[in-house]
Amino acid sequence: MAVIRRTNICAGGSRTDGAIPLFLIFSCFCAAAAAAVTDTLAQNQLLRDWEQLISANGTFRLGFFSPGSSSNRYLGISYYQAQNLTVVWVANRRIPITDSSGSLTISSDGSLEIIHSGQSSPIMLSSNATATKGSNLTATLLDSGNFVFRELDSNGTVLQVLWQSFDYPTDTLLPGMKLGFNSDTGLNWSLTSWLSTDDPSPGAFSLGGDPTGTTQLMAWRRGNVYWKSGIWNNQSFENVPDLTSDDVRYNYSYISNENETYFTYSLKNSSSPPSLWVLIWLGGFDQYKFYESDDKYLSLRIQCPPHNSSGDKAKLMGCVNQTVVECRSGDDFDRKRGYVSGTPYRYVENTSMGLIDCDELCWNNCSCVAYGTLYDNATGCRLWTTDAGFREDNNSPGDIYILRSFFDQITARINRKKKWWIWITIAVVAGATILVLGLLYCLRMRLKSKAEKEESQEMSLLKLGTKLSPSEELLNSNYLENDGTNDHELKIFSLASIRVATDDFSLANKLGQGGFGPVYKGKLPEGQEIAVKRLSRLSGQGVEEFKNELGLIAKLQHTNLVRLLGCCIEGEEKMLIYEYMPNKSLDSFLFDPTKRELLDWNKRYHIIEGIAQGLLYLHKYSRLRVIHRDLKASNILLDDELNPKISDFGMARIFGRNESEANTNRVVGTYGYMSPEYAMEGIFSVKSDVYSFGVLLIEIVSGRKNTVYYDFDPPLTLLAYAWELWKAGRGEELIDPKLGPSYPIDEVLRCIHVSLLCVQECAVDRPTMSDVVSMLSNETIHPPEPKQPARLTGRAAIEVDSHRGGSESCCSINEASISVIQGR
Ligand SMILES: *[C@@H]1O[C@H](CO)[C@@H](O)[C@H](O)[C@H]1NC(C)=O
Ligand SMILES: *[C@@H]1O[C@H](CO)[C@@H](O)[C@H](O)[C@H]1NC(C)=O
Ligand SMILES: *[C@@H]1O[C@H](CO)[C@@H](O)[C@H](O)[C@H]1NC(C)=O
Ligand SMILES: *[C@@H]1O[C@H](CO)[C@@H](O)[C@H](O)[C@H]1NC(C)=O
Repeated sequence: MAVIRRTNICAGGSRTDGAIPLFLIFSCFCAAAAAAVTDTLAQNQLLRDWEQLISANGTFRLGFFSPGSSSNRYLGISYYQAQNLTVVWVANRRIPITDSSGSLTISSDGSLEIIHSGQSSPIMLSSNATATKGSNLTATLLDSGNFVFRELDSNGTVLQVLWQSFDYPTDTLLPGMKLGFNSDTGLNWSLTSWLSTDDPSPGAFSLGGDPTGTTQLMAWRRGNVYWKSGIWNNQSFENVPDLTSDDVRYNYSYISNENETYFTYSLKNSSSPPSLWVLIWLGGFDQYKFYESDDKYLSLRIQCPPHNSSGDKAKLMGCVNQTVVECRSGDDFDRKRGYVSGTPYRYVENTSMGLIDCDELCWNNCSCVAYGTLYDNATGCRLWTTDAGFREDNNSPGDIYILRSFFDQITARINRKKKWWIWITIAVVAGATILVLGLLYCLRMRLKSKAEKEESQEMSLLKLGTKLSPSEELLNSNYLENDGTNDHELKIFSLASIRVATDDFSLANKLGQGGFGPVYKGKLPEGQEIAVKRLSRLSGQGVEEFKNELGLIAKLQHTNLVRLLGCCIEGEEKMLIYEYMPNKSLDSFLFDPTKRELLDWNKRYHIIEGIAQGLLYLHKYSRLRVIHRDLKASNILLDDELNPKISDFGMARIFGRNESEANTNRVVGTYGYMSPEYAMEGIFSVKSDVYSFGVLLIEIVSGRKNTVYYDFDPPLTLLAYAWELWKAGRGEELIDPKLGPSYPIDEVLRCIHVSLLCVQECAVDRPTMSDVVSMLSNETIHPPEPKQPARLTGRAAIEVDSHRGGSESCCSINEASISVIQGR
């Protein structure tokens, strides 16, 4: 079998055809690589991720691409010379390839397929049944943009077309394509919109022929008729009279015979500009034309308003009346940039749903007032009800759609409040000024008389400074007040007040030393106990940026996260103020021979669950989607009822913002808890946190620290020890003897099982936190068998292993794709 290995291309790289000057290399990893320019793929050849086919006259290109900000790889056809990527067809819209391991090939058993290193089998474009034995099979990208898979005889004459992309349209109609039905072959030519601009998976809208057989086109929104073209009248549709204005250049026709009923169009002559029709993801049907500039130009749009609620809105011809829920009459959603305060009343985790679907969900539920998508890739939904507040901010990451009537209502409320606050503020500031002046006067008098009292007097003044700071904050505040629930706003403390609270950072008040600096206990004048983290340094971040970041982090609210109360920034000093946790951190219990006995299984399980929930929130449900990067026992604090609270979350965000992946010497994290890909390559993801969670879980169950233990022969890390026991079916031996005589053995073993899944070497094998939570809480789920955990723990191990050149045993694209081919 002709397998072209990557090494061959890098070394030999020769271009066999220089005819097309615009030769581009797409995302090749090796600098010297090149490939032949061709429009045809022959049997047993591979078209790899960085290669492409160009149609004979250079109009179309077929190759892998990533739409917008997505990193998924899709095989698609696009205009080759257009300035912007204009994708007209996508092969694997439902099954994205998550890395660059995809290759298109005609297999030896005669099917056109995409092979890749992912877990699923090859993505089949055609089935292999019809080819004659011994003939040549080729796949060619034609100048029309049609990608045809054909059988040729020895002279190159076409025997039959086995498959063609024109029969499987995505969202674009090119000249020569059809919309309608063929009752003979059962083909239904219809367009389905993308889910969003960055996601070609099938969206809410589709367009095709009338299934009842009349000569008209119809558009559907999730299966409901949304628009009708009206009957074809030899030149144009009833509801699209504009079509005729183009009849100089394009020849539209609606063919109807006993087998086929379809709409199609062609260019009248070669000077007609190339054209395409796109069913856009928001529901419109756009006609584009290409002119000399090589860029597309929108010449016609047919689009119905998403909810034709207001009767006065100009109705587009053919739009089908939607039933409007009573409460929505005269209303609509407006797109805003900003932050919604308040938790969504509903999360929809379905990643096949896009913005349009969220719109529909919210529109049809009278208690919904705002919506947005859930995940970064604009899938899933978040829906809010009337207890939400809203703060406009053009820098916010995503759009929020707010009901117009609700937005007017909260704006009015805020304006009323603002007036009120102005008066309060004036009063407080005036009062404060008088007080300060008075005190200054007093102070001067006393200074004259008694020098030794100086210190205590200064203190009282500073205490006053603390009391004043909330009003200062109100003056500077640009945060929205939210009906009394504004207690999670970031407070700015003065350095002086913190000095007073911590007794000038006295050693007696020092709680510990964290990775980012020492932590002190403090007590505010009003009696609240706080923990002050004094940051040792801050990487080139401006004060405003730092405050903004903290403001966001202060808004992360969850029972299993330590609350950030505020910060203090003065000169070089930067501090974070947290609520104080009387029981200190988990490691002070777990690794202390006597205190460990206080943690019976119920308490430990409660702690495990809490950590998992907190982490799930950070990963999935918080607005910032935080990756902790330094999860470990000493970062789990315990409150007076031993509820776990994750601390130091968001630190990676503050410290590691612009750090590149290569910058491993500044990796925030703790050896022993760090996943191999993070420790060695600096690559972090939610799965690196999952790894740390797995280590933590083993520690909680075993009551041992994950370091090297010399009492085994050979010396083993806790992970390796756990794995050996598990393999041998002796998992119980890992359980902490201090747990006492009674605990539900199944539950404990399930925790060990889950922990081993979390520490698997390969990040893709590890479960997500939502998997973890459901595996822990649901006895009926049978988790898969874990694979061997990563071998590295401890610094020495990492240095030795890095000579192997990274995580070579895991997910190597090269290895995987080659072995797939050879395995066939
Ligand atoms: C396949 O094509 C090649 C080159 O075009 C030709 O030499 C060969 O005879 C063909 N084989 C068959 C079985 O048609
Ligand atoms: C328009 O297309 C139809 C069907 O493809 C064809 O029969 C007709 O000759 C074409 N007319 C022109 C002017 O090209
Ligand atoms: C997810 O959404 C799609 C599109 O609306 C729908 O077809 C599918 O049934 C949904 N899946 C689930 C599990 O609800
Ligand atoms: C979008 O993101 C979600 C959650 O991260 C993921 O499950 C889904 O596969 C993503 N969709 C695509 C098309 O990448």
